[in-house]
Amino acid sequence: MFNKTLLSLFLLFFSIQSFSQQNTIDQKVNALLKQMTIEEKIGQLNQYSGDWSATGPITINPNKQSEIKKGLLGSMLNVLGTTYTRQYQEYALQSRLKIPLLFGQDVIHGYKTTFPIPLAEAASWDLEAMELSARISATETAASGIHWTFAPMVDICRDPRWGRVMEGAGEDSYLGAKIAYARVKGFQGKLGEINSVMACVKHFAAYGAAVGGRDYNSVDMSERMLWETYLPPFKAALDAGAATFMNSFNDLNGIPATGNKYLQRDILKGKWKFNGFVISDWGSIGEMVAHGYAKDKKNAAFDAIAAGSDMDMESNCYRENLAQLVKEKKVPIALVDDAVKRVLRKKFELGLFDDPFKFCNANREQKELNNPEHTKIAREVATKSIVLLKNKNNLLPLSKTTKTIAFIGPMVKPLRANHGFWALDLKNIDSTYIVSQWKGLENKVGKNSKLLYAKGCDIEGENKDGFAEAVATANQADVVILSIGERYDMSGEAKSRSNIHLPGVQEDLVKAIVATGKPVVILINAGRPLVFNWTADNVPAILYTWWLGSEAGNAIADVLFGDYNPSGKLPMSFPRDEGQIPIYYNHFNTGRPTQNQENTNYVSAYIDLENGPKFPFGYGLSYTTFQYSDLKLSKTKLKNTEIIEVTLNITNSGKVVGEEVVQLYLRDRVGSVVRPIIELKDFRKIKLNAGETKTLKFVIDNSKLSFYNSKLEYQSEPGDFDLMIGSSSEDIRLKGSFELIK
Ligand code: GLC
Repeated sequence: MFNKTLLSLFLLFFSIQSFSQQNTIDQKVNALLKQMTIEEKIGQLNQYSGDWSATGPITINPNKQSEIKKGLLGSMLNVLGTTYTRQYQEYALQSRLKIPLLFGQDVIHGYKTTFPIPLAEAASWDLEAMELSARISATETAASGIHWTFAPMVDICRDPRWGRVMEGAGEDSYLGAKIAYARVKGFQGKLGEINSVMACVKHFAAYGAAVGGRDYNSVDMSERMLWETYLPPFKAALDAGAATFMNSFNDLNGIPATGNKYLQRDILKGKWKFNGFVISDWGSIGEMVAHGYAKDKKNAAFDAIAAGSDMDMESNCYRENLAQLVKEKKVPIALVDDAVKRVLRKKFELGLFDDPFKFCNANREQKELNNPEHTKIAREVATKSIVLLKNKNNLLPLSKTTKTIAFIGPMVKPLRANHGFWALDLKNIDSTYIVSQWKGLENKVGKNSKLLYAKGCDIEGENKDGFAEAVATANQADVVILSIGERYDMSGEAKSRSNIHLPGVQEDLVKAIVATGKPVVILINAGRPLVFNWTADNVPAILYTWWLGSEAGNAIADVLFGDYNPSGKLPMSFPRDEGQIPIYYNHFNTGRPTQNQENTNYVSAYIDLENGPKFPFGYGLSYTTFQYSDLKLSKTKLKNTEIIEVTLNITNSGKVVGEEVVQLYLRDRVGSVVRPIIELKDFRKIKLNAGETKTLKFVIDNSKLSFYNSKLEYQSEPGDFDLMIGSSSEDIRLKGSFELIK
């Protein structure tokens, strides 16, 4: 009794304390707002890019510094390092009210220590690893004078032609929501602490559904699809306490996101009660003119502020028009005040008014960037992100005493190759901290094995002059490792590809090397699922190595030689051909489902290709094997207020330690709207020693049975459900069923 009283007193004290803190901040915000002129208020809603590295079309403005000194700028992005952030902060403190600047940056997968691209990390299905990766990125970012990262990107995508698929978590809402939550927690930690930065959840919303997979293109979908598939990761990020959101370039059902009241006011700030602020994506406010939604920049400013876009990145619409719109009483000052208060509140929460230079400590910057502990973790996260797609006759892992190894391909030696589109500061690439694939092999077996190299060909182009040397090199070796794929800038922003086959003549190089009869291991490096059917069918071993960042070389070598048993699982379906796109695992059954590929008459099928992916969602092999057994359900009938406990045993039936991602899928057989044939509803990543067995428990509650019906009500419906436990969405090991009753 005594403990309970003590606990409740503590909780009461703690909640009063945090409430009073917030209250104090609100009082300070309101007091400051009262002193501000309309120009100073609009200044807080204005963000410019630094001139070092543009991440969009820059508007040249020679007066940035003078505007900062007049308090006419609230934030900057693309200003890297304590030297420059301190310099600009000093300008801001020369202004009348000394309101500090916010510095933002696209720290998408690492600041100086570069982690695997987010899609690769998603393939780890390791939420703790992803949170830690974000935590380290935040530490290095905050040590560099920056308060805010424009991440996580949480756009669901079912179209690998879209270049930005590399930034997200793939095609599934459940996995995407779990990862969004973990990444926000990782970036923000306890906001205001010295190692934390504000997260910025983007791109709100449905940007990943661009027609044709073509970046910035229109998006048109039912509200039900929006709520069922595309919004859940945003809601999860909000639940994790995300401080800011970024809107998206696309129009959604005819209305550009940045001018979309339904998205930003009705859903985000209304239903979801978001109290942070929304920043435009680059010039998206001004781009409403190009969209044909606003007649000019003044109307664009009106549409944006009315729709809930708080800060204007780089378009100058607010700076040039908002004061006039208020003067003409077209925009109530209350709308401007609400946006300004949202921005000021975050500056207070970060502690910038107490100490505008708290993030500008050059010694800390020196200590944190490329900290060896960070590098070690980057290597671990990278090994977990690698997916073993094929391992015929257990060619992998390779022996560390292999006499001669040929390492061939255009991705073997370049330092930049493994860093992906959003890696930072790579103009000053520093080989001290970046381990190429070649260097990783040298580190692992350089002392015992003879290593041979040939480039073979470029990533793009038709030139095969290097083939002869590559074949001759392969013929001298006991085993060939062939590293191929996309160049780092063939996915990312504005990098959509209509053809996602291996670029150039790389697959011809694979054929030439396979023709030597030597055992061949393929590494495929890319920011998206690629099409490589011949390679997949004719090469004994394939690792999907994405772009793994600073420690790519060491991580790849760890997996190649068995120091880490690969555990990755695909977060996206890999198509057999672009013609199948959009392709995703959790599709509906249709009225004429395809039973098999032979009979395509009058069923939902192609006459020239099978329906299924080359590699399915959730797929990934291991150097060991896992047996699933003893599935038990605590009940087979439940009410929507009850739960079912699901237990099963997993055994490592192989000879080496390994991790398995056990996936729990459900199928709601009949609904008031058609339901997917399979949906991920839970997963566990577990480590098992050889011969070890563990019992896993999952809980099925009403939230796992619920969906949006045609009236957009989120609820479950009585009926029969199939339960499937698998090693992938197409490798179901255990099945059960249960009934939801009224
Ligand atoms: C870019 C991207 C966005 C990024 C922003 C700032 O255009 O769309 O993701 O955060 O501009 O660089």
